[in-house]
This record gives sequence, C-alpha cells and structure tokens, in this order.
Amino acid sequence: MIDAKQTEELIAAARDVQSRAYAPYSNFPVGAALLTDKGRIVTGCNVENASYGLTICAERNALTRCVAEDAGKPVALVVVGNTDDALTPCGACRQFILEFNPDMEVICIGLKKGERKDFTALGLLPGAFRSSDLDKAKS
Ligand code: THU
Repeated sequence: MIDAKQTEELIAAARDVQSRAYAPYSNFPVGAALLTDKGRIVTGCNVENASYGLTICAERNALTRCVAEDAGKPVALVVVGNTDDALTPCGACRQFILEFNPDMEVICIGLKKGERKDFTALGLLPGAFRSSDLDKAKS
C-alpha cells in the first residue's frame, strides 16, 4: 500500500496533467498519475481526436509513457475526473492496467465531491484474459 504522502503526490500530479487534457469533443478531462517501483511518477491525460474512436484515455497514456521512459513497474495509479462519483477506468483501460501488474493499486477520485474508491487491477477485471492464457493453446 502506498502511504498518504505518496497518494497526495499522485493526486496532485494527476490534477496537474488533467489541466492539459485534450478533450474538445467530450469536455471531460481526465488525469492519471502512476507510481513505479523505482519511485518514479509518470502522468497521462486523455487525448481525443476528430475521429472519435482514436481517443486515448488518460490511464493508457500514462502506462505507455511509463514503458517508453523505462520508468519501472507501476505499483499504484490515481485517476481523477470532474465527476461527482469516483471516476473508474473504462474496460479497455482495465485490461491495459492489468497487463503491467495485477496487484496495482488503482485509486479513483471524483473531484466534485472528493469521492474516492480504491481497487486493485485484478479487482477491476476479474476473470480477465491474461498473458498466461496465451500458453494454454500450446500443445
Ligand atoms: N476517459 C479517460 O481518459 N479515462 C477514463 O477512465 C474514462 C474516460 C476519457 C475518454 C474520453 O476522452 C473522455 O474521457 C470521455 O469518455
């Protein structure tokens, strides 16, 4: 479990990157910040496109940056949105999050009321298809 200070740092980083979200179509800016086992914080915001389906969510943006920067294994992820309830990741992002650490702490926050919900990556997607399933087709 990450401690309160680390959590506050991640929330601040997520809010900061949320302010740079490119969301002209939905007007729904999202920020994500993850902490790695190397102590690095890596952030991402949603980036939309006139071809709507090409939109990249904040969570996947942060995770792809983490890989590209060789920042380490993600251990915790904070997601913030301007919602009443805690903003939880979409299905595609749940699959993407799980790829990198099934035990990752996922802290979801709705900034309007400050509501917070805590999950694990596997808890967000029970029974998910995982890399270990690929071996099961081998004879
Ligand atoms: N979005 C995220 O970035 N993360 C989430 O967890 C939920 C949705 C983005 C995608 C799109 O740009 C906007 O929010 C509305 O769906």
